[in-house]
Amino acid sequence: MICLKSSHELELMKVSGQITAEVLYKVAEIIEQGVTTEKLDDYAESLLKDYGAKPAFKGYRGYPKCLCVSVNEQVVHAIPSSRKLVNGDIVSIDFGVIKNGFYGDMAVTFKVGNLSALKKKLVETTKRALEKGIEQAVIGNHLGDISYAIEKYVAENGFSVVRDYVGHGIGREMHEDPQIPNFGEPKTGPILKEGMVFAIEPMVNAGSYSVKTLKDGWTVVTCDGKPSAHWEHTIAITANGPEVLTCRKKI
Ligand code: MF3
Ligand code: CO
Repeated sequence: MICLKSSHELELMKVSGQITAEVLYKVAEIIEQGVTTEKLDDYAESLLKDYGAKPAFKGYRGYPKCLCVSVNEQVVHAIPSSRKLVNGDIVSIDFGVIKNGFYGDMAVTFKVGNLSALKKKLVETTKRALEKGIEQAVIGNHLGDISYAIEKYVAENGFSVVRDYVGHGIGREMHEDPQIPNFGEPKTGPILKEGMVFAIEPMVNAGSYSVKTLKDGWTVVTCDGKPSAHWEHTIAITANGPEVLTCRKKI
């Protein structure tokens, strides 16, 4: 069942979304060569306290940290560690918070130093693919229109969308109905209504879409070892069109 949010609930979700974005972009300010992915996580956790918010991922199915920090061929869910970022890395940071009982969820892929042309294109394509999906998140469209727009844009740019992980509804739970694949057919699936709130999150591989999970039980990597990027926003479907809740606006 897809849970519709009232305008009051949407206001609360905006607060959660803005905290998510502000903390994530503050963390981004300390990304540089030599910084460990654990340091990014520690910083995110300390910032959250200032907002009176709780991390959404820590403790979720036993996940140990606040952030997922996935580097290069790591697709999603890499656990922050003593790994140091180096020149030419792409680093996808996925972050969620709970505030006032509502979740915010977002991901951004950042650049470390100078990237190869392939990685640059991959990061830009993933960001743009999310925008293409969000553009379709309007009342009266079908869910499949979002999925199709993302897949089409990614394929046009010669990359592939991950099939094993999907976006999701979000609200009082981090994962609500519906599942939002990053591939699909237009004019299929549920019709979009005012008050739906979605986390749309394309994961885009430079090579094949095949992924596997490492022995730590979390880290998802590309099977071919080629890089992958991830971009995610929490968005609401409103009478005025799609509204990005995880945007950096001062609260
Ligand atoms: N943003 C991701 C999602 O929507 C990450 C959650 S996995 C976690 O599923 F375990 F790290 F929380
Ligand atoms: Co998500």
